[in-house]
Amino acid sequence: MRKGQVSVFFLLLFLSLSSASDQKWRKAMMSAYNGSSSSSSMMMNRVGSSILFPIHGNVYPTGYYNVTINIGHPPKPYFLDLDTGSDLTWLQCNAPCVHCIEAPHPLYQPSNDLVACRHPLCAALHPPDYKCESPDQCDYEVEYADGGSSLGVLVRDVFSLNYTNGVRLSPRLALGCGYDQIPGTSYHPLDGILGLGRGKSSIVSQLQSQGLVRNVVGHCLSGRGGGFLFFGDGLYDSSHVTWTSMSQEFTKYYSPGSAELHFGGKATGIKNLIVIFDSGSSYTYLNSQAYQALTLLLKKELSGRSLKEAPEDQTLPLCWKGRKPFRSVHDAKKYFKTSLALAFANSGRRKTQFELHPEAYLIISNKGNVCLGILNGTQVGLQNLNVIGDISMQDRMVVYDNEKQVIGWSPANCDHLPRFKSAYYM
Ligand SMILES: *[C@@H]1O[C@H](CO)[C@@H](O)[C@H](O)[C@H]1NC(C)=O
Ligand SMILES: *[C@@H]1O[C@H](CO)[C@@H](O)[C@H](O)[C@H]1NC(C)=O
Ligand SMILES: *[C@@H]1O[C@H](CO)[C@@H](O)[C@H](O)[C@H]1NC(C)=O
Ligand SMILES: *[C@@H]1O[C@H](CO)[C@@H](O)[C@H](O)[C@H]1NC(C)=O
Repeated sequence: MRKGQVSVFFLLLFLSLSSASDQKWRKAMMSAYNGSSSSSSMMMNRVGSSILFPIHGNVYPTGYYNVTINIGHPPKPYFLDLDTGSDLTWLQCNAPCVHCIEAPHPLYQPSNDLVACRHPLCAALHPPDYKCESPDQCDYEVEYADGGSSLGVLVRDVFSLNYTNGVRLSPRLALGCGYDQIPGTSYHPLDGILGLGRGKSSIVSQLQSQGLVRNVVGHCLSGRGGGFLFFGDGLYDSSHVTWTSMSQEFTKYYSPGSAELHFGGKATGIKNLIVIFDSGSSYTYLNSQAYQALTLLLKKELSGRSLKEAPEDQTLPLCWKGRKPFRSVHDAKKYFKTSLALAFANSGRRKTQFELHPEAYLIISNKGNVCLGILNGTQVGLQNLNVIGDISMQDRMVVYDNEKQVIGWSPANCDHLPRFKSAYYM
């Protein structure tokens, strides 16, 4: 299905921060949105006012995680790729469609509720000097790091969602009606993308501005496939989460700023790595220098062991063959004993470490070899950016708290939806 193993899926261009002042933003939001099912008592019950979605997929061989979202009136289901590396949610759309890619569901029939060009949500998708071609509509174009793109127009439509306490909500949210798509190198057979980034156009940010949920996104990707996604802050115990502040410098992405690579518990001197967390990328990427250092360290560790490089296995750039084919990462773990971590400096405070266990950077290919799931980002055009992809976020809860501007993680069993006490406050 997918060609090549390049699978970086975050927004590269066109998204720049809105220059609209806060004041203007708030005023516009108030006039544009009629808080649909919002009730202030709902916000008091934080567990109840989270929204939880089961997700489907895996790192290998599928290469993505998808979530089903019901949109429109009457609601129809769409399979969306969850992407914390971009803001805009869009669907392949019959506007009519100029270029659509084969999708699991019929094309979305857009509502006729267009977002105006001057609307702050539109401004958030364009550079500050953007000139409106027609004031009544908001044209957008998003381009992803894998070369894929979507071009279309912003519309508002009803999203059918449920709080974890069972209360239904059906807010009108802006989404892209994408009528001209180019598939990227990591093309996935889905209906569109669920943008969960830091920007104002993200679904969670829109829900927050209607007072429906706190602007917090979290996911738990299971290493055995599947997992869950949530909006709101009611489904985790904050005191069990390792938190690090979001960079105020790299505001386009969920970035804790710069990191240093640690190997065997020691700093390697490979530092100032600008790191982003991106659920739209299956694998993890390091820039050429860090990638080279890491592969040398691993090769040194493996020398003299019974693992042999297997260049004939093209699953990923670096694979090793064991004496017998491996069935799981667990079988191959004993060769990769030296601990690997990224240490974030976060502005002078104690360093937080994001540990990479073997399961967080290895896969077993269909040939039974063990392959390195950390790739050379420079090779795929990421330049100096380093990406923590799905492989390294498996089996932990990763939380992006846009209200406190922190990113956190904690070990978790992602095989089951979190348990919560349903409480009725209404
Ligand atoms: C808000 O609701 C009122 C009354 O229900 C309606 O007249 C108005 O058009 C709505 N505004 C928007 C922007 O949807
Ligand atoms: C997307 O997820 C749904 C479950 O939510 C699953 O039934 C479906 O097969 C998945 N679609 C693809 C294309 O992986
Ligand atoms: C919301 O809950 C209702 C039942 O209360 C269910 O029929 C519906 O499928 C749920 N919607 C979503 C999006 O989970
Ligand atoms: C990473 O990719 C760049 C660009 O293609 C290349 O110049 C460099 O040699 C690669 N690094 C390693 C260690 O393979």
